[in-house]
Amino acid sequence: MNFKIIGTGSARPACVKTNDDLAEFLDTSDEWIRTRTGIEERHVLTDGESLSQLATQAAQAALENSGTKPEELDFVICSTIRGDYITPSLSCIVARNLGVRCMAFDINAACSGFIYALDCATGYFERGRAQKGLIVSAEAMSKMVNWQDRATCVLFGDAAGAVVLEKGENLLASKLTSDGNVEVLNIPHVYGNSPFSSDEHNPSYLFMDGHGVYKFAVNAMATGLAETIAAAGLKQDEVDHVLPHQANMRIIQAAMKKLDIPEDRYRTNIAHYGNTSSACIPVLLDELNQAGMLKEGQILALTAFGGGLTTGAMVIRW
Ligand code: UT7
Repeated sequence: MNFKIIGTGSARPACVKTNDDLAEFLDTSDEWIRTRTGIEERHVLTDGESLSQLATQAAQAALENSGTKPEELDFVICSTIRGDYITPSLSCIVARNLGVRCMAFDINAACSGFIYALDCATGYFERGRAQKGLIVSAEAMSKMVNWQDRATCVLFGDAAGAVVLEKGENLLASKLTSDGNVEVLNIPHVYGNSPFSSDEHNPSYLFMDGHGVYKFAVNAMATGLAETIAAAGLKQDEVDHVLPHQANMRIIQAAMKKLDIPEDRYRTNIAHYGNTSSACIPVLLDELNQAGMLKEGQILALTAFGGGLTTGAMVIRW
């Protein structure tokens, strides 16, 4: 017994910034960003908008799509790098906004967070602890990047994606990894004002060695997909939809070359969102679902990598 996805939802801030908008205050260009990454625009949170509101909107859309009442939920799990508070968790606020009091907690596996959350949720169904549950992956990357660093800020955006799960048998295989690498990708913590420590701290901005992550990412995606598809007892060309983490079109294309999955099975929306970390895959999933592209019984392969460095790969039946 594991899970079945019975509904999807997503939300994005109304404010859209194009590459040209960024070129107004950064030494960059639409041409550079588009050709190196495939990104054309991204959504960003602005004054008065919180990540909790965005996450709640995505959750409400997924509940509606699945025909589920909030009170039917046995858990709310959010994946996020950083909620609105260190505590309470983002999931506690989403649960409150939905008017429910079931267990609620966050997980942080960076961009692999949605796949980690699905894997984690499986345990509650297997143990008979849940009939239905909600996963929301929500990220406010615009609040963590350094907007003076053109090498990173142009890559990211804000969004939230959600799914409602019920008991089922639709998870076919999954694999999660981590390797404890702080050097290539990190966001230092916000520090307090302890009178007992005079340690110097870097500002709390996202740092990334793009080349280091790139090399890791191509192999991680290709290996993760190949291993989980084989573990599911399937051939690569039996996959109907590949939903890769939307970090860079070139990473997706390079991973594609290492696999035997036909190119027309890869789904992307990076052009309109940039990298929204753990929200990438559930937002894409919701768009495919809303467009009527997902047919019952089809095989979906999800693959992600991110800070940690973590990886997640999963094969599910729709
Ligand atoms: O979710 C996990 C997150 N991250 C990733 O997956 C990122 C993985 N890495 C990448 O996607 C790519 O490495 C980047 C998109 C970050 C960078 O692409 P690249 O082709 O590896 O560029 P580069 O870092 O080699 O930079 C080439 C040039 C440099 O100038 P010089 O030294 O050749 O004069 C950069 O300073 O491009 C310059 N550059 C820019 N120019 C215009 C870097 N950022 C920009 C920019 N606009 N935004």
